[in-house]
Amino acid sequence: MKTLLQTQPVPFTRIYALGAARGDLTVTNDEIAGPIDSSDEWIRQRTGVVTRKRASKDRSLMDMASEAADEAIKKAGIDPEEIGAVILATITFPFQTPSGASLLSELVGAKKAAAYDISAACAGYCYGIAQADALVRSGVAKYVLVVGGEKLSDFIEPTDRSISFLLGDGAGAAIVGPSDHPGISKTVWGADGSNWDKVGMTNSLIDFRDGKATWPTLVQEGPSVFRWAVWEMAKVAKQALEEAGLEAKDLSALVTHQANIRIIDEFVKQLELPDSVVVARDIIETGNTSAASIPLAMHRLLAEGQVKSGGYALEIGFGAGLAFAAQVVELP
Ligand SMILES: CC(C)(COP(=O)(O)OP(=O)(O)OC[C@H]1O[C@@H](n2cnc3c(N)ncnc32)[C@H](O)[C@@H]1OP(=O)(O)O)[C@@H](O)C(=O)NCCC(=O)NCCS
Repeated sequence: MKTLLQTQPVPFTRIYALGAARGDLTVTNDEIAGPIDSSDEWIRQRTGVVTRKRASKDRSLMDMASEAADEAIKKAGIDPEEIGAVILATITFPFQTPSGASLLSELVGAKKAAAYDISAACAGYCYGIAQADALVRSGVAKYVLVVGGEKLSDFIEPTDRSISFLLGDGAGAAIVGPSDHPGISKTVWGADGSNWDKVGMTNSLIDFRDGKATWPTLVQEGPSVFRWAVWEMAKVAKQALEEAGLEAKDLSALVTHQANIRIIDEFVKQLELPDSVVVARDIIETGNTSAASIPLAMHRLLAEGQVKSGGYALEIGFGAGLAFAAQVVELP
């Protein structure tokens, strides 16, 4: 009997480069406070958001995703045809099928890539990095393009006080490839289905079709998700550090999902981060962009020179599902 041929594993992976694209509109708190009987002061104090970036009608999710991906591919210095898989983490691609990733692979010239979307909401980008790491290490793909992209403004209700006022639009991209040293640590991840209904859509598309409900928009049980994020996710972040064999002082940056600045500050406390660790606070200007928020925030730290390539960043995504994922990555 013949022996099966299998892919040859490679020992290590790293992120080669990032790309970013945000909504073209800057929306202030004053512009959205009226319908939720809120104020600029309340939103700043309770969430940290000063503006959110939103995309105008003619700037689509795919426009932002391909812009971010093109930047990452160019900076990585690779040929798009060397990309073995395109993973799009999103909850806002407006077609159930085909996947957004398939269209994205065409737009960026990744003609030899497998392509699929993943639905893990605000944890989606970190899920994507976990998958990219595994695909490259197993030898299934040489390079993987991971994009977290959302046009959340298509799924908001201006009178909703629970989440809509926080949300922005954008896309962040990463190229993952082989490395001569470890650049992505073991991912700590999961999904707490017992809290499936705590963040998500108001209703199904079927109920919308049948005239039983309105267009589905995003809602959350803010305070209970807040507590989960602060207590349970801080534990996951600590576990990810342990899996990486690092301590807080070894980090250059903490890049959490940009859900609420008070949650970010709580991570800093619970992880006992020294002042030397730069903390991403892109939420102030961009808002919460779900799957896009971590790569956008990391891209900003690098673009503004707040962190240097080669340092370690702990990244943690959490949200609807309730899904979560955390890993330490070497900054590209
Ligand atoms: C949504 C969120 C900002 C609400 O903030 P909060 O501090 O928890 O607010 P609460 O719901 O406890 O309400 C506190 C008070 O503010 C009021 N309030 C709630 N939302 C408000 C809003 N958008 N504008 C103005 N006032 C508001 C409430 O009526 C309440 O008033 P009261 O004290 O007179 O009863 C916050 O819960 C949050 O960010 N949750 C975490 C979300 C998260 O991590 N999601 C997962 C990833 S997306």
